[in-house]
Parts: sequence; C-alpha cells; structure tokens
Amino acid sequence: MITIKNIHKSFGALEVLKGIDLHIGRGEIVSIVGPSGAGKTTLLQVMGTLYRPDEGTLTIAGTDVSRLSTKEISKFRNEHLGFVFQFHQLLPEFTALENVMIPGMIAGRKQSEIKKRAKELLEFMGLSCRENHKPNELSGGEKQRVAVARALMNEPDVIFADEPSGSLDSKNKAELHQLFFDLRDKFGQTFVIVTHDEELASLTDRCIHIVDGRITVPETPVSEEAETVEQLETLEPDNTESL
Ligand SMILES: Nc1ncnc2c1ncn2[C@@H]1O[C@H](COP(=O)(O)OP(=O)(O)OP(=O)(O)O)[C@@H](O)[C@H]1O
Ligand SMILES: [Mg+2]
Repeated sequence: MITIKNIHKSFGALEVLKGIDLHIGRGEIVSIVGPSGAGKTTLLQVMGTLYRPDEGTLTIAGTDVSRLSTKEISKFRNEHLGFVFQFHQLLPEFTALENVMIPGMIAGRKQSEIKKRAKELLEFMGLSCRENHKPNELSGGEKQRVAVARALMNEPDVIFADEPSGSLDSKNKAELHQLFFDLRDKFGQTFVIVTHDEELASLTDRCIHIVDGRITVPETPVSEEAETVEQLETLEPDNTESL
C-alpha cells in the first residue's frame, strides 16, 4: 500500500529524517513510536503528502506521489488519504454530519450520495443521534469518532493518525482503539498511527521505532530475557503441581 525509500527531510539546517525505508501492506495497522522530537510527526506528514521530502520516493496505492505536481497532490490526498489528529480539528460552525461530508464535497461528489454515506458512517460510530450537534456540543470521545468518520468519507486507501487518543481518558481511548481494529477487520482499512500509548502500540501488527530520524530495532533488555528463562525453569514438571 505504501512504499517509501531513502526519505530525507530537513527544516533549514536541522536534518529531521535521515534516510527512512518502509513498506506498509494493505490492511495493516502499523504504529510509529519513539522519543519526542525523533521525527515521527514529520515522517507521518511526509507519508501523508503534507510535506515534500528533500530526497527519496513515496509510492501510495501504486501512485508515485513524488512525481505529482502540488495541485495533483492535493487531489490525490483528498481522494486517497484520511487524517486523524490529536485534536479533532472539526470545523466549529458546522454540525457533525456536515463535518463528515466536507471531504466528499471537496471531491465534488453528489450531495445526496455523500449525505447518505456520512449518515452511515456516523451510525457505524454509534453517533446517529448526534448528527446535528456542533463540535462544542460533543464529548471528547465523540469528537474523535466524528473525526474518524470524516477521515473515512472518501473511502481512503490509508488513514494517518497522529496521537489520535492523546487527548482522551482511558475509556474513550480504549473505544477509539477498538474502532480502528473493527474498521480493519470489517473493511480492510489500512492505518499508520503515531502514538505514545504503549498499549495501543503493543496491539498493532507492527511497531516502527524512530530514534533521531532513523528506524531502529529495539534491543531486548538482557535482564528481562534472563527473567523469562528463570521463570521457565521454575515450571519444571516438579513445580507445576503447585500451580
Ligand atoms: N515545521 C518545522 N520547522 C522547523 N522545525 C520543525 C518543524 N516541524 C518539526 N520540526 C523539528 O523537527 C524535529 C522533529 O519533530 P517532530 O514533530 O517530527 O517530532 P515527534 O517525533 O513527532 O515528537 P513528539 O513526540 O513530541 O510529537 C523537532 O526537533 C522539531 O522541533
Ligand atoms: Mg509528534
């Protein structure tokens, strides 16, 4: 679904991404983790075509995005990609239903068709009875679910999410995470999620670690390994009876 090769990105003299290669398959849920300032958001924005890389190639759903003009990229983004941010970024003067419809309107789709889909998406999110609420009349968890519905409007090939549950309490957080997995199981939706949430990262199919602008493979701490071996040893047949 996404292939990136040798991606470099600098802001002035600051080199943030130092050669990133990555392949993400259709229907995968991939998390990106790492310390603050490591370049996670920058990488997500490059993959989401919001920043152009200084070097390297980006292919999404068979399209070499690196070759598109700025205008073509905007159209591609609207039609093929969905975004969910830490703070919902819904438009305050529009209702939940209208917010979900916006990407469809930008794409120039028929009003009746996008309204039908927006209603179906809000129903899937369990928000049918909140359709006419404006963002300030919704709870934090509801706002994020509306943001996910909006991201799904144009049936995107991939949804990019940057700390999507970062502003939620534990109950809403768990519900939002479950929603991602439901969308993958039911519709094969691909997700790339930047997160500081270890629980979410541990549930995803693959966890990419970024440190100082590069992908790293985390080492297993020696002490943990030793502990596991010790635990296994105590499970010798003689000891199992007491369990
Ligand atoms: N538009 C920009 N202009 C200049 N520097 C930037 C810009 N965006 C990010 N940076 C710098 O690039 C580095 C990486 O930023 P990035 O936002 O990708 O980090 P991050 O891994 O997402 O961190 P966090 O976990 O805190 O969100 C930081 O040092 C940041 O200050
Ligand atoms: Mg970030």
